[in-house]
Amino acid sequence: MGTATMLDRLDQQPPDALLALIKLFDADPREDKIDLGVGVYRTADGGTPVFACIKAAEQKLVSEQDTKAYLGPEGDMGFVHALMPHIFGGEDPSLGGRIDGMQTPGGTGAVRIAVAMAKKAGIKRILMGTPSWPNHAQILADTGVEMVGFNHAAADGSADLAALKDALANAGEGDAVLLHGCCHNPTGVDYTNAQWDEIAAILGASDVLPIIDLAYQGLGLGMEEDAYGTRKVLAAVPEALIAYSCDKNFGLYRDRVGACYVMTASTADTAKAMSNGCALARANWSMPPDHGASAVRMALTDPAMTKQWTDELDSMRARIRQVREKLAASSNAGAVNLAPLGQQQGMFAMLPLSKEQILSLREDHGIYMAGSGRINVAGLTMGNIDKFVNALAAVSS
Ligand code: LMR
Repeated sequence: MGTATMLDRLDQQPPDALLALIKLFDADPREDKIDLGVGVYRTADGGTPVFACIKAAEQKLVSEQDTKAYLGPEGDMGFVHALMPHIFGGEDPSLGGRIDGMQTPGGTGAVRIAVAMAKKAGIKRILMGTPSWPNHAQILADTGVEMVGFNHAAADGSADLAALKDALANAGEGDAVLLHGCCHNPTGVDYTNAQWDEIAAILGASDVLPIIDLAYQGLGLGMEEDAYGTRKVLAAVPEALIAYSCDKNFGLYRDRVGACYVMTASTADTAKAMSNGCALARANWSMPPDHGASAVRMALTDPAMTKQWTDELDSMRARIRQVREKLAASSNAGAVNLAPLGQQQGMFAMLPLSKEQILSLREDHGIYMAGSGRINVAGLTMGNIDKFVNALAAVSS
């Protein structure tokens, strides 16, 4: 037996900071603790129930599914295609076959395939507004693509379009730009439609490949409204990659349901690109998990279930809006100005808090948020907003 060991040479890695919060929160015995950490929607009672439309679809699945034999690396194409009208809209969401996609394990799997495919196609650098979802930078680093950061949110709380324009002006062939389609994570600061018009025009005239991460469609202004930027950009450019997540808008978090779409200049290129996506999937996870995507397919191919889904999504969005408005109207949060939250979209907002203040909120008040100061707005309810606002005042005054 040899004596040389290799695995002891690995450096200890810190746990993912956001996911570690889930365990910390669970271990806290305080009854009035508030979880504003990981991006999970919560109802007015603080729960995260399975969508009624998904329960109905799952029941149908149990009675109708007659095999669990393998599909393939592209997963459930019925699911992939059923989502397309909702994402791309129009009479022909495939744009004459120029758009196609594949199922992935969650939005993370979709970003991973999109970035890896871009790299295979010759992309060396990806421009990305910061701050961004922390896993974006990890995926770029792990895939071996250089990240070029630019500022995402301006000091006045609007999106920093000038910074994006500047980054694009200094980029060209061999570069891609990663944009959040809606409900920017972590800032909640989205581009306005007028800004998307400008972005689409600039991208249309440049050689930079757009990669759009659409992980929260329907949680901002509405399914159609939240697709505005994606559709605008796709109409202006010859090719793009789109990473999609159903984790939030179908509440399927742990089932890991996502899709990666590719739009190319010709249908022949689409098939070629998809073959690369499938090869990447095969080497990574072989095939995506089936269950959640089957449930989404069933929900989207049954008009009554689809209506139930859009109703559920409407009420989630309305509740997020209600919380945002109540927060924005609070003038008693000490030095923290909550007014901008009324203008932002989706589940997240960044609060200008120091590490010490974030720690004090956790230890002294039982309020858990990401170390960056990001809060999950949907973790608040009408019953605990006052406690949250008072705690902000206590740590910031
Ligand atoms: C989040 O940002 O909280 C979510 O997207 C969950 C995750 O995987 O990080």
